[in-house]
Amino acid sequence: MDDRQRYDRATAELDPPFAILDLAAMRANAADMARRAGGKPIRVASKSVRSRPVLERILAMDGFRGVMAFTLPEALWLVSTGLTDVLVAYPTADRRALARLAGDPAAAREITLTVDGVEHLDLIEAAVAGVRPRAEIRLCMDVDAGYVALGGRFRAGALRSTIREPEQAAALAADIAARPGFRLAGLMAYEAQIAGVGDDPPGNALLARAVRLMQARSARDLVVRRGRVVRAVREVCDLEFVNGGGTGSIERTVREKAVTEVAAGSGFFHPRLFDFYRRFTGRPAALFALPVVRRPGPGAVTTLGGGYPASGPAGSTRLPQPYLPAGLRYAPDEGAGEVQTPLLGQAAHDLRIGDRVWFRHAKAGELCERFDALHLVDGDTLVETVPTYRGEGKTFL
Ligand SMILES: Cc1ncc(COP(=O)(O)O)c(C=O)c1O
Repeated sequence: MDDRQRYDRATAELDPPFAILDLAAMRANAADMARRAGGKPIRVASKSVRSRPVLERILAMDGFRGVMAFTLPEALWLVSTGLTDVLVAYPTADRRALARLAGDPAAAREITLTVDGVEHLDLIEAAVAGVRPRAEIRLCMDVDAGYVALGGRFRAGALRSTIREPEQAAALAADIAARPGFRLAGLMAYEAQIAGVGDDPPGNALLARAVRLMQARSARDLVVRRGRVVRAVREVCDLEFVNGGGTGSIERTVREKAVTEVAAGSGFFHPRLFDFYRRFTGRPAALFALPVVRRPGPGAVTTLGGGYPASGPAGSTRLPQPYLPAGLRYAPDEGAGEVQTPLLGQAAHDLRIGDRVWFRHAKAGELCERFDALHLVDGDTLVETVPTYRGEGKTFL
């Protein structure tokens, strides 16, 4: 039985649109990620999962420890349901959530906030000023892991922290140490230009060479710079963890001695954008099904819904991939539509009204902002239906 038959059979009783998670595919992806991490723990990036029961399943597997959350309200919620060791990896300006954190010692023990400068520290201090008694706030320093060349004229990587050099990091660590009520627990430096950029882009050999060259140079720069930054900070205080990397860089990031753990999330679902890496392959695990509702002409069908583009620079790479049956493509004038999506191609001849087309999202967790539930499929059986964040009434971003 091929994948399409399995998915159709497992979900025969459901009416699309709906989303599924192929558990065997996700387990295989997770095992491969743990193998690539070579014994260092993987912190699970919740933005790329966005379903609490799925996070719990992943954390129960070997090789995974802690959550990398994306907002403080999310972290407070996760901890209230029993999850532990939650790093909020993006700075927060949510004063109400900060006051909640400072007033809840049990949550404050499990949650770590990210800062990259004194402005963040000042904002947190002001937000928690009226809280008595006030729990100690755990912090993680975000360090720029971008690649800069040609005297600053070339830059690759996400625009995040301004802390880049050891002296800057040591100065911020000293500032944190001098403020009562804070503890610097960790350091994070995410190399988006390696972890999040495929080195095997389709049909563009020149671009592929440029990406590989940039990534090799960036990795060489990082081994030295990240090591120095960590040493400089450790002279000021003890660090519990040093986090780096993402799905696309696991085996590279863990090779650095200074790094104690790697973050990853997208690899579990293996969305479309992660097809373009030479270092690993994964199995598409998260899919959504749309019903065929029209047959506008020979070689064309129309599905209901489908316009679920991923975040990032807008363009065709951010659109879902019509996946099964193979051989369907978007109509150039319409793309993935708000309420209907025409699909063209040979495979359309065999599709009837009421059949399903299976899609992959371009990214991982954003799929869960479109669906209340993930139907968990094992083999050709639907074994459980679990809520997404949205299904639990939680839309953090
Ligand atoms: C701080 C940080 N670490 C790691 C990742 C990697 O996540 P993923 O493995 O889902 O690509 C991201 C993604 O944007 C991130 O922002």
